[in-house]
Amino acid sequence: MNIEELQQTAAALMEGDKGLLAMDESLPTCNKRFAEAGIPQTEEYRRKYRQLIVTTPNLGECISGAILFDETIYQKTDDDVLFVDVLKQAGIIPGIKVDEGTVAMPRSPSEKITNGLDGLPERLSKYYSLSPRFAKWRAVITIGKGTPTHENIKANTQTLAKYAALCQQANIVPIVEPEVLMDGDHTIETCRHVTEETIKELFNQLKIQGVNLQGLLLKPNMVIAGTDCPVQNSTDEVATATVECLLATVPPEVAGVAFLSGGQEPWEATGHLHAMHVKYEDKLPWPLTFSFARAIQQPALEIWKGRDENVEKAQQMLYFRASMDNLARRGEYSVDLETW
Ligand code: 13P
Repeated sequence: MNIEELQQTAAALMEGDKGLLAMDESLPTCNKRFAEAGIPQTEEYRRKYRQLIVTTPNLGECISGAILFDETIYQKTDDDVLFVDVLKQAGIIPGIKVDEGTVAMPRSPSEKITNGLDGLPERLSKYYSLSPRFAKWRAVITIGKGTPTHENIKANTQTLAKYAALCQQANIVPIVEPEVLMDGDHTIETCRHVTEETIKELFNQLKIQGVNLQGLLLKPNMVIAGTDCPVQNSTDEVATATVECLLATVPPEVAGVAFLSGGQEPWEATGHLHAMHVKYEDKLPWPLTFSFARAIQQPALEIWKGRDENVEKAQQMLYFRASMDNLARRGEYSVDLETW
């Protein structure tokens, strides 16, 4: 384990006003998004779509790292250049999703645990040789009747911590993502309570596994009411609840915090990040940025629709959304800029 290399990678990912682009949808998730947009669900269309993303002009101005799915690591552009090489030439560090998806938890089947530890050391050393310098593992915490259970939080955070330790042994920076889902009618207070409990337990487990926090990134949800909750909160309330929750749970040594968007509308996710920076800029002990998938990609996917003639316009939209997120990280975003 090379601590210096891990810390350098983590610092590069958190540089300036940049953030991460999650483009690591698994086959079922990617196919679902394609189906909704009327795009054929084939390997070739997934290649074309990922090509559109990685060849977006000037993407490296906004994005420091891109999280890929295994299939994408081996794919190439029409000109026969590996996507990972296109990214590196653009100054974007390639990353890789290494979890193998979720399954129902045996004794509490409405909750999920994440698979993927089997054979992970071998996969990590293979990925290192193929370029990725950071990885992602997503755990899902479900708010519902009687959930989450403490057993579920413990099982998920234990696995996240074991994954993180294995990543660091392979000189790959781990992103730990304990996502408290927005599905449901719970209030913002419930989301905050569950997110706090989850992140506290996560750092407890990371300590047990001896994970170096300066070579680790946290990818949390924002603290927000469930999608079906009748009371939806203001931008300021979401920003305040989120940052207060993180300040109470995330040790200052952590190299950075990068949010998932979780199904928020793109401008909401951007607006929330902006509000956090405006209100808390001097009080944040870690860089605070974005690691969005849908909040960056979805509008571009809807423009593309699988058609070659729409690629340029879709790339402009992708760049536009990422640049809005840069402004948010600088605390310089305004909805008036949403002129697209
Ligand atoms: P969303 O931004 O669409 O929530 O995705 C982030 C992610 O990487 C989920 O694992």
